[in-house]
Amino acid sequence: FRIAVLISGSGTNLQAIIDAVAGGDIPARIEQVISNRPGAGGLARAERAGIGTEVLDHRAFAERGHYDAVLAERLEAIRPDLVVLAGFMRILTDDFVTRFMGRLINIHPSLLPAYRGLHTHQRAIDAGESRHGCSVHYVIPELDAGPVIAQAAVPIHAGDTAETLQDRVQAMEHRLYPEVVRWIAEGRVALQAGRVWLDGKPL
Ligand code: GRF
Repeated sequence: FRIAVLISGSGTNLQAIIDAVAGGDIPARIEQVISNRPGAGGLARAERAGIGTEVLDHRAFAERGHYDAVLAERLEAIRPDLVVLAGFMRILTDDFVTRFMGRLINIHPSLLPAYRGLHTHQRAIDAGESRHGCSVHYVIPELDAGPVIAQAAVPIHAGDTAETLQDRVQAMEHRLYPEVVRWIAEGRVALQAGRVWLDGKPL
């Protein structure tokens, strides 16, 4: 089972998946890590793990569509069974998403459908929520709107800042994302007719 991971930043979720593969929890191989940012910390994590890396800098492209077309070509060359977005901070074009739909997943720091988009931790605090969390979902053209595979919730405490809440959510991300990748690698999860199926039953 071949995995490609797309990142833009520090790559703590990538690290969690690397560790789960190395520990034998995910029956798969991470074939390649691609970053749109040259200095992304996740690149060093991949290199330390002996995983091939590639930088595809979006600043070298005038058009989003062109960038996504080149990214899609690079990805196809890897022949991934699964493309994992792990802090890849770019909106993908419909063409790209359609091409990889069903083998493209993302982790989003909220209990979707609540708080799509950015600054989710601050927005949840500002709204007086008592719970927040993260969601792993299949990616569809509409942003952060794809069918959810699994979620993990955390409490919001009095006095939480966006940073303290983010730390609590990220600790859950690092458990949830490898687990969902494992289910998919084991063939237990699929996207069919716009719905997530787990162990032969629609969620
Ligand atoms: C995570 O918080 C994830 O929810 C969001 O981007 C962040 C990536 O962090 N999509 P990292 O690069 O995995 O550390």
